[in-house]
Amino acid sequence: MCETLDNAIKYGLDFINKGNTASYIPELRKVDPHQLGISILQSDGSSLSSGDYDRKFTIQSISKTVALMLALMDRGQEYVFDKVGMEPTGDAFNSIIKLEIRQPSIPLNPMINAGAIAIDSLIEGNDINHKFNRLICFFRKICHNDSLWYNEKVYLSEKATGFRNRALANFIKDSGVLEGEVEEVLDLYFKQCSIEIDCRDIAMLGAVLAMDGISPITGKTLISKNICRIVKTLMVTCGMYDASGEFSIKVGIPAKSGVGGGIMAAVPGKMGIGVFGPALDKKGNSIGGIKVLEYLSCEMDLNIF
Ligand code: DON
Repeated sequence: MCETLDNAIKYGLDFINKGNTASYIPELRKVDPHQLGISILQSDGSSLSSGDYDRKFTIQSISKTVALMLALMDRGQEYVFDKVGMEPTGDAFNSIIKLEIRQPSIPLNPMINAGAIAIDSLIEGNDINHKFNRLICFFRKICHNDSLWYNEKVYLSEKATGFRNRALANFIKDSGVLEGEVEEVLDLYFKQCSIEIDCRDIAMLGAVLAMDGISPITGKTLISKNICRIVKTLMVTCGMYDASGEFSIKVGIPAKSGVGGGIMAAVPGKMGIGVFGPALDKKGNSIGGIKVLEYLSCEMDLNIF
């Protein structure tokens, strides 16, 4: 299987020249676009890696899955999905258009930026530090990594340039979706997106989801089966944004991408996969990462459909 991972990386490397790093976040623009790595963590706790699997990168939108789990645990399914929908948008991850043209004016799902910002406003805590602390502790527990923290430079870069996210947050504040102060919720969102991880961390997150909330390392239940089911379903329908349909046909694994270049995938009952390739396609998904997953899905027969 080690050879399969090496071959998947070789295959993916042929495509990375066609992509670019996320240019709208100045700190991400600087990242070396030639990196490509993968880790898998199987249901029995064994792991395999290849390529640039140990390079640190920011989790970006992959974090939306973890924030959603915490909000669901804090507020319950009914409350959360009253504020944010469950439908794919067919639009870019940072689009504002549907917020204005659809009624009720709620973000269509928790994976787009508007939805994720709304979800962050639902996380319980006395103040923003307490909320972030709860979120990072939850991340550490799921990823089995007590050293997880956020990258200060990327956080400040997003905070200084996140005008679109500010617009989205103000819009959903106006429509009564966002709870609390706009700037405080954005602060939590920017910090959450800037959490630094490597392929092994997100393979672990994928594996916990794949195992319906049970840690493949300790055998302990970390998240309920129902919450894992909700998150995996949203990963299939919205995890790759307006490329989710194509990804489902070509790869067929619940997955969530981030503009840092990561893709976290959960193969139900089998394994979690973490891929990193910072060169992105036009929709903001890792161009090499998708190819690595296409290769792996085909070679290892991982398509869930
Ligand atoms: O808010 C943003 O735009 C980024 N912090 C996260 C977006 C993202 O990762 C989209 N994923 N492909």
